[in-house]
Amino acid sequence: MNAAAVLRTADRFLMNTYRRPPLVFTRGRGCYVYDHRGRRYLDFLGGIAVNALGHAHPAVVNVLRQQAARAIHLSNLYHNEFQGPLAEKLAACSGMDRVFFTNSGSEAVETALKLARAYAKQKPNGAPRTRLLALENAFHGRTFGALTVTATAKYRDPFAPLLPEVAFVRLNDVADLEAKFDTRVCALILEPIQGEGGIHPISEAFYSRARQLCTAHDAAMIVDEIQCGLGRTGRWFAYQKFPERPDLVTVAKPLAAGLPLGAVLAREKFAAAFAPGLHGSTFGGGPLSCAVALAVLRTIQRERLLENVRARGAELLAGLYELARRFHFIREIRGEGLMLGIELETDAAPYVEQALARGLLLNAAHERVLRLLPPYILTAGQVRTFLSCLADVLASTPRAKSSRHAPSPTPTRAIARAARVGGHQETP
Ligand SMILES: Cc1ncc(COP(=O)(O)O)c(C=O)c1O
Repeated sequence: MNAAAVLRTADRFLMNTYRRPPLVFTRGRGCYVYDHRGRRYLDFLGGIAVNALGHAHPAVVNVLRQQAARAIHLSNLYHNEFQGPLAEKLAACSGMDRVFFTNSGSEAVETALKLARAYAKQKPNGAPRTRLLALENAFHGRTFGALTVTATAKYRDPFAPLLPEVAFVRLNDVADLEAKFDTRVCALILEPIQGEGGIHPISEAFYSRARQLCTAHDAAMIVDEIQCGLGRTGRWFAYQKFPERPDLVTVAKPLAAGLPLGAVLAREKFAAAFAPGLHGSTFGGGPLSCAVALAVLRTIQRERLLENVRARGAELLAGLYELARRFHFIREIRGEGLMLGIELETDAAPYVEQALARGLLLNAAHERVLRLLPPYILTAGQVRTFLSCLADVLASTPRAKSSRHAPSPTPTRAIARAARVGGHQETP
């Protein structure tokens, strides 16, 4: 392959939406990817939380080969043999009742917002309930509806005006939530751990109050698990650490191992607001992607990967706190399982570049946060390799010697918390 020609063509013909290093990745195996020169990289980005089973997992490759030769697409005007069983499995993992399949995370968010509005419209009398609440610093996608509930100005402003009637609540600020929740609200959407926003977990107090208010106002509580869901925290869903279920759940990224597939999972009461013709999707829930998604969920169970996520996550966290003791420009370490963020005092981009140069893939979320989203199949050896490489990356910068601030929070407490994440359910 002529990498220079590939880069030239991309530069000439692709729209200018991504800032990419001058590399062409050609293949992957397990937790590693390889570039055009055959150079190997330890993948701690996992295709941005997509490659839960790493690359070229035999369970995925086998199903793909078999199913591609049988039927890739059949249309949602007919049943296929995998949609129902996949919906059943997702319902069992989540405690939800019904499922609608989409092509992407953004489309799942769109669907959830439409379902919430359709449900609210069914009520015969009273003031119209069309208002949406979302959280500051949230990210829910790039389509117009999803962008409407995405707070960050740089994503929104160039495309304004977006949908009317949205308000943003400060993360974990119960008083702000109470002040903004009124009788016109039809849905509140939140990420249990904000991903693009820089790995910020939601507090139990905030989640519980949100649940109470949604119930009291008969509004839909939508939990966006597109980045943090389907095992990444060591539970099937991040919200399962809280006692109560939401009304709607969106999932996507790891669901079909990189094939485009998302879903909205809903409680019966809300699901019943959709009737034939009200909503649809040409590609969503095709036989190939659903067959692969079933294989992904089966493999997570069979290989006991939720346990692995918890064990490797605890090792990572312990190692990161060691690094925080050495490098005082690490301000905070946040997250759960294999969704971790390292907040620095400075811009994270140079560290991402250094890591790439040393054969390690990770990225920066929200400017100052190094984000880790490795595959669930990560080994203890790979955790050690990562920590040693990251130590070299951190030591290679002038900040390594000059910073004065001590890290927070108290390391030992947070490590203990990560090791005993409760409430997980392993059997769909
Ligand atoms: C929490 C969350 N919601 C929604 C999306 C949008 O998903 P997609 O890029 O598949 O449309 C993302 C993507 O990063 C996300 O992290």
